[in-house]
Parts: sequence; structure tokens; C-alpha cells
Amino acid sequence: MFRRRDRIQYKTPEQIRKMRAAGLVVAEVHQAMRESAGPGVSTAELDRIAEEVIRSSGAVPSFKGYDIGFGPYPASICSSVNEQVVHAIPAADAVLEAGDLLSVDVGAIVDGWHGDAAITIEIGEVAPELSALRAACEASMWAGIRAAATAKRLGGISHAVEHSVEHSGDYGIVTGFGGHGIGTEMHQDPHILNYGRPSEGPRLRPGMALAIEPMITLGSPDTAELEDGWTIVTDDGSVAAHTEHTIALCEDGVWVLTAPDGGVEQLGELAASAARGE
Ligand code: MF3
Ligand code: CO
Repeated sequence: MFRRRDRIQYKTPEQIRKMRAAGLVVAEVHQAMRESAGPGVSTAELDRIAEEVIRSSGAVPSFKGYDIGFGPYPASICSSVNEQVVHAIPAADAVLEAGDLLSVDVGAIVDGWHGDAAITIEIGEVAPELSALRAACEASMWAGIRAAATAKRLGGISHAVEHSVEHSGDYGIVTGFGGHGIGTEMHQDPHILNYGRPSEGPRLRPGMALAIEPMITLGSPDTAELEDGWTIVTDDGSVAAHTEHTIALCEDGVWVLTAPDGGVEQLGELAASAARGE
């Protein structure tokens, strides 16, 4: 499954179908988050609901216990509010208020295979510029996903994300974090920058599974880590958005494994036949 010259794990169609099962659990959690998140709700409560959805599907929350060397992550979701960019730990005293921009990142494992995706949710009525930020982040993710179907190299995805963000407005593109390969581990090669040149990076090939996840801000792209060792915030306190899908490159197109419809509506003819259930 590994080619000699890189460390990318190439999946068989059967393995991609297993990743779809994990992706659908993640999609179900997102739906529950959209229904549950609102003013007065704590992020700890959202975490409880997310874990319940994951475990009742027979899946395992991949974030819980995840350790990058500083001790285990304590929850099943990352719930990042306003100036928090990613990896914020849910807390009982983190109570959502109308006007907040919340990003929920969630990962699930089914039968050893991972799904990982994030959505940004508007809490109550938010300022128009926050709504535009959320929309720009989503649009850039879809631009990256479309590029995964048409570009020759990984850099084509990065370039498409960057180009889309720049087209949408004057936003900061977070450079310290990016997307990643995914499969039998949550984080695999290659790392996916949210900016770059189409000529760069490994060739895109069928069997690749990638998590594409732009993070953009209303201000500076610079970030800092809080003392909890996890939470990433914007340096300048500006509000951030984060959107992510896990996708698979199939012989005849892209399958968005964490989208309920497999990405068919957004991708049209770029969607893999497997995404249409064919
Ligand atoms: N889903 C995040 C990512 O895309 C990782 C979450 S880190 C964890 O990279 F510790 F919360 F698991
Ligand atoms: Co990810």
C-alpha cells in the first residue's frame, strides 16, 4: 500500500468504502451539532452529544486520548469559538452566546479506518462579516476539493484554496496548520498547505485519501498556543473559521467521504461514481 518513493498510504476501493462508513458517522455528528449548538449551550454539552452519537454508531472517537506528546486529548470534539482557530477543548464554562462563530472538528474510527471533518456554525445571529468569513472558508474548502479532481499535483489543491480565499476577501490564511493524508491513522502524509503552487508536491493518484481543511481569519494569519497545550488562537484576537472534509480520490472522480451526499451536489460531474452509489 506504500509506494517506495513516498509514505502515502494508497487505499483500495474496498478500503475507501470502509472510510465512507467512518465519514458518515462524522457527518451524523455534524448534523447533531447543528441541531444542538445555540446560545446557552456549553461546548462540554456538545462534546457529550458527539460522543454519544459516535459510540451509538459502534464507532470510536479518534480525538479522545489522541497524544502528540503532551498528554492525551480529553474530548471527542474540538470546539473553537471566535478567536480560537482549532483544537480548543470543550468545557462546561464555555457557554455559547448569540453572535459567536463556533467551529466543531470531529473524528471517528470504524473498523480501523478514520474520518475527520469540521464545520463552522453561526450561533444565533452573527455579524455579517463573520457570516462572510464562514462562507469564504467553506468555499475555499470546496475549491480545494474540486482541484483534487482536476489538478495533477497536491500543490494544485493548496493553490486552489489560496486563490479562493483571496477572491473572497481580505482574509488571513493560517499557515501554521493544514490538511493531511488520512486512513488507518488520523494524520498521515502528505501535509497539505492551504497556499502554494500547482507544480509542487506529490502527484495526485487514485487511492489517496486526504483531509482538506482551510483555516482563515478576519485579521492576521499568525497564531499562538494557549497554556493548555492544545488551543490555537489568532495572535491578534481576530475571529477565525475552519472547515474540513475527508475525501478519497477514485479512478473516476472524488468521493467526499464526510459529506452526507458524498459531495455530489457540490462536485457535479467531478464526483466519483461511487459517491452516487453506482
Ligand atoms: N481534526 C484535527 C485535524 O484535522 C485534529 C484534532 S487534534 C485532537 O488535524 F487532538 F483533537 F485530536
Ligand atoms: Co484534520
